[in-house]
Amino acid sequence: MNLTAKSAPRAALVVTAVAASLGATLIMASSASAATTLGAAAEQTGRYYGTAVAAGKLNDSTYVNILNREFDMVTAENEMKWDATEPNRGQFTYTNGDRILNHALNNGKRVRGHALLWYQQQPGWAQNLGGSDLRNAMMNHVTQVATHYRGKIYAWDVVNEAFADGSSGGRRDSNLQRTGNDWIEAAFRAARAADPAAKLCYNDYNTDGVNAKSTGIYNMVRDFKARGVPIDCVGFQSHLTNSAPSDYQANLQRFADLGVDVQITELDISGSNQANAYAAVTRACLAVARCTGITVWGIRDSDSWRTGQNPLLFDSSGNKKAAYTSVLNALNAGGTTVTGTSTTTTTTTSTTTSTTTSTTTTTSTTNGPIPTGCTASVSLNSWTGGFVATVKVTAGSTALRGWRVTTSLPSGTTVTGAWSANRSGDTGTVNWTNVDYNGNVAAGQSTEFGFQGTGSGTGLNPTCVGS
Ligand code: G3I
Repeated sequence: MNLTAKSAPRAALVVTAVAASLGATLIMASSASAATTLGAAAEQTGRYYGTAVAAGKLNDSTYVNILNREFDMVTAENEMKWDATEPNRGQFTYTNGDRILNHALNNGKRVRGHALLWYQQQPGWAQNLGGSDLRNAMMNHVTQVATHYRGKIYAWDVVNEAFADGSSGGRRDSNLQRTGNDWIEAAFRAARAADPAAKLCYNDYNTDGVNAKSTGIYNMVRDFKARGVPIDCVGFQSHLTNSAPSDYQANLQRFADLGVDVQITELDISGSNQANAYAAVTRACLAVARCTGITVWGIRDSDSWRTGQNPLLFDSSGNKKAAYTSVLNALNAGGTTVTGTSTTTTTTTSTTTSTTTSTTTTTSTTNGPIPTGCTASVSLNSWTGGFVATVKVTAGSTALRGWRVTTSLPSGTTVTGAWSANRSGDTGTVNWTNVDYNGNVAAGQSTEFGFQGTGSGTGLNPTCVGS
């Protein structure tokens, strides 16, 4: 693979400059600057490196140590599925899903939501429904779960495994499909309405090369894009044996060319060629600018659903395998930079009068691909013991469908009221997300929300993430 200066990781920039001046095109990261964990290595090109997590293992210290050290994206292996979240109709249980989500967010990781609708792992009551009754239950499920996690999910697998294996290229028969062919787009629209900031993905397996099944999905995505059905990404599970298909990268690229992100969502590879195959998959993602990240489906071989096949990056004792090293080296060798990635810049644009302070923070993330750009600025009216903050959210060069602003309240400060935004809490780090009527902001335009509080409102440092 030839890498140009444009495609080199930040860790290799100095080397890049020298190589470019010599007319060289192959860029290698210097070992001195190479990242030493999967997440950090992926972040060099604006990507994430994630894993599936089981709530029941969060008290296993070996497991948690590897999770916290290596990965910057988390998928709940089972805990956000329909049978886990709505075991009885209309009664929602988020305990284990929340454990995983909170562990991730509290440790600076993001979360892929998995999965809102799937023909498997449905609660018994849903399996027994049909027709409009089932359709209503499906849409209510999507709305309720996406609303519960609103503003906290990087990307949702809205629909999982809806296409048939084999040569048909058509939909899989299921109770979901029998409610009408439009069930997938209805689910995507419901998810967008419930959580405008989350990327919305279609996720499937046996789609890792160009074949009838992946082409059926490709045609659906193309149709959705043409008709304005909200879809942002396609997940390729990549449960592989020995190797990826030879057209793996080309397949990712053809989907990316439709205008969606692509993600490798459940990677595990068995067989004696494991280390080479992991490197090849890594390089393929790195070569596709809209391949925003890779998730492996478990941490240690003993955590894998593929019992006895040892398809993961750590052995059952938690030691790094050869496959781990090949992935880390491939990530450190660099690739295309994910579109939209940039470094963080912070500017303070105005100073203090007697009672009014205005601060603007231009934000981006160092923890993976950057969603649509936005900035947030706060105008503060304060008095002894209290304040009113007005926050202005401004879209970058692309329109926003939703936004999330994070503020840092000083110790002793409490929010006592707010308007035109949802909030995650009243003290400390507070996330603010758009309400129904102010999520859509045209390029370069602004919207406002506000809050009042007791204590001091200085140093709020608002940062904005849009979608
Ligand atoms: O938690 C119960 C436990 O109480 C009980 O004793 C035990 C008895 O079998 O079952 C346990 O639940 C199992 C659960 O995993 C947690 O371990 C289920 O039986 C088992 O079916 C379930 O398997 C999951 C599988 O999806 C279900 O189809 C795997 O963990 C999970 O890795 C797998 O993940 C899927 C993705 O969601 C979609 N793509 C394919 C992938 C692999 O099948």
